[in-house]
Amino acid sequence: MNNFEFKNPTKILFGKGQIESIENEIPKDAKVLMLFGGGSIKKNGIYEQVKTALQNHEVVEFGGIPANPEYSVLMKALKVIKEENITYLLAVGGGSVIDGTKFLSAAALYEGEGPWEILTNKIPILKGMPFGTVLTLPATGSEMNSGAVITRKDTKEKLVMGGTGLYPTFSVLDPQVTHSIPHRQLVNGITDAFTHVLEQYITYPIGAALQDRISESILQTLIEVAPKILADPTDHTAASNFMWSCTMALNGLIKQGVPTDWAIHAMGHELTALYGIDHARTLAVIAPSHYEYNLETKKEKLAQYAERVWNITDGSTEDKARAAIKRTEAFFNEMGIDTKLSQYTDDYEGTAEEISKRFKKRGMEGLGEHQNLTPEDVEKIVKMSY
Ligand code: NZQ
Ligand code: ZN
Repeated sequence: MNNFEFKNPTKILFGKGQIESIENEIPKDAKVLMLFGGGSIKKNGIYEQVKTALQNHEVVEFGGIPANPEYSVLMKALKVIKEENITYLLAVGGGSVIDGTKFLSAAALYEGEGPWEILTNKIPILKGMPFGTVLTLPATGSEMNSGAVITRKDTKEKLVMGGTGLYPTFSVLDPQVTHSIPHRQLVNGITDAFTHVLEQYITYPIGAALQDRISESILQTLIEVAPKILADPTDHTAASNFMWSCTMALNGLIKQGVPTDWAIHAMGHELTALYGIDHARTLAVIAPSHYEYNLETKKEKLAQYAERVWNITDGSTEDKARAAIKRTEAFFNEMGIDTKLSQYTDDYEGTAEEISKRFKKRGMEGLGEHQNLTPEDVEKIVKMSY
């Protein structure tokens, strides 16, 4: 196991009715900007619950943050923060609203030229404006980590940012929010969280027995709850397990002391930037090709995953590894997720070359747990996913 330092300062308020506790989590003298998305919270009662909880606070609202939070919209919110002298941000939404809020937390205190530099220059954010979240969509884990992904439509870019200053001070996880989540978003959430675990687990053995077992148990829990939550989004037990699994998949715990990959996400983000494909679906497109392509270096962990998660015990290490890749793709397909790029766009020719070119330009020359996947490898992987 590698050395590590681990600190996660986010306070989690989990369970039914926890939205009302935010009153006690936000300083009484704060001027709050409440940020939300395209309006789902106004239809499912979450908006009223938050407003009631904050009736004794001074609150300004900013709605309309789209899925794949868009820079130009966020810049309008930044203007409000400055004009209204906002001191505290509250994200009420899914990964997009939370990530957008993280960008704003950083941008509000940023003293450089233009805040887009934070992304292009990979500036680590050590201090941001304090913010809390009310999670409405289990998926990304953004509610308990310090990363964000921001999109810019005019340049077709989707870039990551982060830093120790971007952990939410608190996050409310009330599983009842699943009641109103459309089927497509539930499937996305399961797929995204599942792939988060894979990116931190399908690497090479390093003797981290506990991290492996935790990863495997998150995967098994997601497999177990998927049919239940999809059949009935009001199943409270299924919703609770689904929600906590998504958070645990990307709150930093399972990556401690182990190598991590994240190449699937790097390629996937480009597919969203180019074609607007839902984040989770881009991962389901890339993952099978990525694991096939890197079978040689990943086969031991793939075989362990096959045995412990899917009960595939026949054949050689390689046989089991291949079977695990097939089983994973089938799992996505069974939930209704297409796993080939050509199922999302007719315009796929040239995609692999374009992504490879972008990575070269950004100096992303060595991806994966061995940091040896070149833009040429990326081109081949993306092509395999057509
Ligand atoms: O905008 P509204 O009207 O709220 O509707 C949203 C949106 O259309 C809707 N929704 C959310 N909660 C709902 C609901 N509809 C009904 N009932 C509810 N309770 O769902 C749609 C999708 O929301 P979005 O926030 O975009 O989804 P998700 O949570 O999957 O977030 C995706 C974004 O997170 C980034 C992705 O790249 C993408 O931009 N990621 C962030 C990560 C992180 N910060 O750690 C890691 C991930 O790998 C990912 O990259
Ligand atoms: Zn993801």
